[in-house]
Amino acid sequence: MKKDPHLIQQFLLQQQEQHLYRRPRLSESAQQPVMYINGKQLLTFCSNDYLGLANHPKLTEAFQTAAKKYGVGSGAAHLVNGHNIEHQLLEEEIATFTGRKRALLFSTGYMANLGTIAALAEKGETIFQDKLNHASLIDAGRLSDATMWRYPHNDHDNLAKRLARQEASSMIITDGVFSMDGDCAELSGLATLAKQHQCWLMVDDAHGFGVLGASGAGLTEAQDLTSDQVPILMATLGKAAGTAGAFIAGDNDLIEYLIQSARTYVFTTAMPPAIAAAGRMSLKLIQEESWRREQLQQNIKQFRQGAEASGLPLMPSNTAIQPIMVGSSRTALDCSEQLLARGILVTAIRPPTVPKNEARLRVTLSASHTALQIEQLLEALATLEVMQQVQ
Ligand SMILES: Cc1ncc(COP(=O)(O)O)c(C=O)c1O
Repeated sequence: MKKDPHLIQQFLLQQQEQHLYRRPRLSESAQQPVMYINGKQLLTFCSNDYLGLANHPKLTEAFQTAAKKYGVGSGAAHLVNGHNIEHQLLEEEIATFTGRKRALLFSTGYMANLGTIAALAEKGETIFQDKLNHASLIDAGRLSDATMWRYPHNDHDNLAKRLARQEASSMIITDGVFSMDGDCAELSGLATLAKQHQCWLMVDDAHGFGVLGASGAGLTEAQDLTSDQVPILMATLGKAAGTAGAFIAGDNDLIEYLIQSARTYVFTTAMPPAIAAAGRMSLKLIQEESWRREQLQQNIKQFRQGAEASGLPLMPSNTAIQPIMVGSSRTALDCSEQLLARGILVTAIRPPTVPKNEARLRVTLSASHTALQIEQLLEALATLEVMQQVQ
């Protein structure tokens, strides 16, 4: 039966009353620290463009050159005739960069996660996920035929006990860098458990790829894990890489299996070839311009030192994601609005993205922020009335 229109209205009203209503903001700028949004010039601290590549002239040029040659749309799925030479080369270059045999492109990270998990997890098996994993991983677990168990955040003892009870364990799945908290998974412990229980370990490194590790290959590089220990590596290209899409990297059989059976790979149009061409340029810059990672680290240090000096409730994160926990959705919204009045955009993250009473301001930093801009943010945060109450 059709959903009762009154229920829809009631839901919308309830979202407003509970300070959970969301609206897209209208941007008329390229992605960069100072943007023109909803008709106002704002200094932004909410993008995932951690290396400042989304608006890099070399990416734009690579995109334009490929678009002139191949047009805009890919026209079909990879398995029909949409698999362009730019896709193929990007897959090969990602495989080399991540130290894996093969890589497979998906149009979004959400689709990479849905397709991969649904293809690998069978009925009668259990998949294990960190409670704070990204929504796309949780949805993938729900949509798969397997049973899902969510272990408390980074609690390997709890996971080990549960694994010991389970007969058919299929996958352990974790975010590399947790998207709303900014802390990292401890991968070697998970790899050991996966090996002991003969299950896959899948790492979603959406927020680590490009920014962590000496060459930018991500958390597996930073924590020195082999492809044997992390056989399924996923990352998105829409964050530090500054383009769009995502990949799964792994051994030959895994990739061949996904080509045959990941429905979000088979039954969808391939990403535009020009996006893949821009992605190839981005991979090159990630490797060649290590100063971007160094600058980002410097910015993180400056922000944390300043925030600690003002007594702001920081979370234990050393990554570009620096949330400030405020508790209620109302307070988070108040803080965000007060910052907005000062020309600074930091988004309030509220349930269901985070647990109830754990609403926060999610500050994200980029290599393209200047020291002065970070100082401006710190000054504005320190003077927030509501922020002084939560300290
Ligand atoms: C950890 C994580 N995984 C997956 C995704 C989904 O990636 P995409 O935006 O490419 O769909 C995101 C965010 O968007 C994310 O933060």
